[in-house]
Amino acid sequence: MKKCLLKLAEMLLLAGLIVGCGSNAASDGASNEESISKADSYITVGFSQLGAESDWRSANTESMLSTFTEDKGYTLLYKNGQQKQANQITAIRMFIQQDVDYIVLAPAMEDGWDSVLSEARDAKIPVIVVDRRVNAADKNLYSCWVGSDFELEGKKVTSWIKAYTEQKGIEPGDLHIVNIQGSIGSTAQIGRTRGLANAAREYGWDLMAEVSGDFTETKGREVMEALLKRFNNINVVYCENDNEAIGAIDAIEGAGKKVGSDILNGEIMVVSFDAVNEQALAYAREGKISCIAECNPLHGPRVEALIQALENGNTPDKFNYVDEKIFSSISDVKSITVGDTKYSVDMP
Ligand code: AHR
Repeated sequence: MKKCLLKLAEMLLLAGLIVGCGSNAASDGASNEESISKADSYITVGFSQLGAESDWRSANTESMLSTFTEDKGYTLLYKNGQQKQANQITAIRMFIQQDVDYIVLAPAMEDGWDSVLSEARDAKIPVIVVDRRVNAADKNLYSCWVGSDFELEGKKVTSWIKAYTEQKGIEPGDLHIVNIQGSIGSTAQIGRTRGLANAAREYGWDLMAEVSGDFTETKGREVMEALLKRFNNINVVYCENDNEAIGAIDAIEGAGKKVGSDILNGEIMVVSFDAVNEQALAYAREGKISCIAECNPLHGPRVEALIQALENGNTPDKFNYVDEKIFSSISDVKSITVGDTKYSVDMP
């Protein structure tokens, strides 16, 4: 399915944008970016990224950009959707017009993709979904998906909280938890929120509020400030990513309270997801973040392997999960078990 030079020239004309001929560099800012590495007989990949809200997202974009390079035989078209599904749909339509070989979609949210994915299918362009999922009525609208089991991540963190608090002799009803959720309707939010809600129901924890922090530090801070005004007994803050956790810690300390795992003595425990942001990892090492479930962003090589499988006429598995770890510098809990699987708790 490799395109000839003529086809590529036509495509570039349509794109109207040739950025850095012979270079695959594209910045990961809030603005729309397109990067086209130009050469003949290359596999053309249109990548619709949802935005640049977090350090995880930046690492994910970088992984894609550094994988689909000219020297490896790829022409990459990259579009940043700036958190708007409408922008992502426009990008996919542009990729279809340009007759790319593959579309890679990192969707902002699960719902609302059926029409544009039908258009891609009609154009016979395989779509690979990465990171979050799409909730398509017909699963054949995309070739395959690769990403994290977000609900499992939530179960790991809640299992850690359960094991830790049981060891400390803290009654389940004495855990007063707030959830700073991710972007509502995204798979990462849905899975992690469900992980906590189910655990709270099952174990008898007091889950007092669920408010979205949109996966950003700024919103995490704002939401935490408001929650501290609303409740005076919060002792666990479940942040659905590290950027929110950094903002929440700022807000807690700004209110004159202490973050940490000693909740019997008035500290507020913060738990989180990703383990990508350096500041968050440092907080985890010093105990300000008690526990982090890894969410691995390095999907570039994984998507490339799927594309190569398709190129070779193989049918990859529909759903491809990434193995992930759990981190804590608190040595009380050495391992957790979720379902039948035991996970060691590693140092961050
Ligand atoms: O979908 C993955 C999530 O999106 C990451 O946990 C978060 O940091 C990002 O914004």
